[in-house]
Amino acid sequence: MPTRKPLIAGNWKMFKTGSEAVETAGKLVELVKGADHTEVMIAPPFTALSQVFTAVKGTNVALGAQNLFWEAEGAFTGEISTGMLQSAGCTHVIIGHSERRQFFGETDQSVNKKIKTAVAAGLIPILCVGESEKERDENKTFSILDKQIKIGLKNLLLEDVATLVIAYEPIWAIGTGKTATKEQAQEVHRYLRGWIDKNYTAALAESIRILYGGSVKPDNVTALMAMPDVDGALVGGASLDAETFSKIVKF
Ligand code: PGA
Repeated sequence: MPTRKPLIAGNWKMFKTGSEAVETAGKLVELVKGADHTEVMIAPPFTALSQVFTAVKGTNVALGAQNLFWEAEGAFTGEISTGMLQSAGCTHVIIGHSERRQFFGETDQSVNKKIKTAVAAGLIPILCVGESEKERDENKTFSILDKQIKIGLKNLLLEDVATLVIAYEPIWAIGTGKTATKEQAQEVHRYLRGWIDKNYTAALAESIRILYGGSVKPDNVTALMAMPDVDGALVGGASLDAETFSKIVKF
């Protein structure tokens, strides 16, 4: 079985000014030095990217963005391109986070365009999928995930998907302190890996990384990471503090 190197990614959402972000990133770099069992990534807000890059450049902490727009440039007020992200030092980009879907009209179709744009630019996309509480209660978890991944990856070739990371983030577990059980996470991760197997190849299914997100904390990360199909975590709240996040990194 190929070994998948875990990825522990921090999503800072709309938190931290430039100087606050640099301070946290600087502390994190010190705390996770030498932690090479896993990849580490942080996604500060756009305004802090360049400054944070100066703090993480040349270290084992990679820089990611929380969103992008699919055009290279133009009259698109408030949007940001892959070229801009890359010149700010980004190697990763979170796409289709449930907060973007919920509050900013992100659809599976726009997610698809963004994934294609990220891949074409050489950025590593972290595609977020996940069901709401209502959808889970109505036993629609797998059909929702199916739709999100099917449209999200529409017309993407094997070599495109090979660069991608998937993050399973049940909406009911985000910021609620209500983590999915390790069994619930494993069940969905297994399903998503099976989907890749069925629609691409067994080899890709074995190598693709699937992160879990939703109230990941130092005290639950170890159990989640012990599941065979959990390859890392996308961490919101608990990534804002360097000390706490470093404990997750050292799961
Ligand atoms: P949380 O957020 O860790 O605060 O639940 C996870 C996420 O939204 O990526």
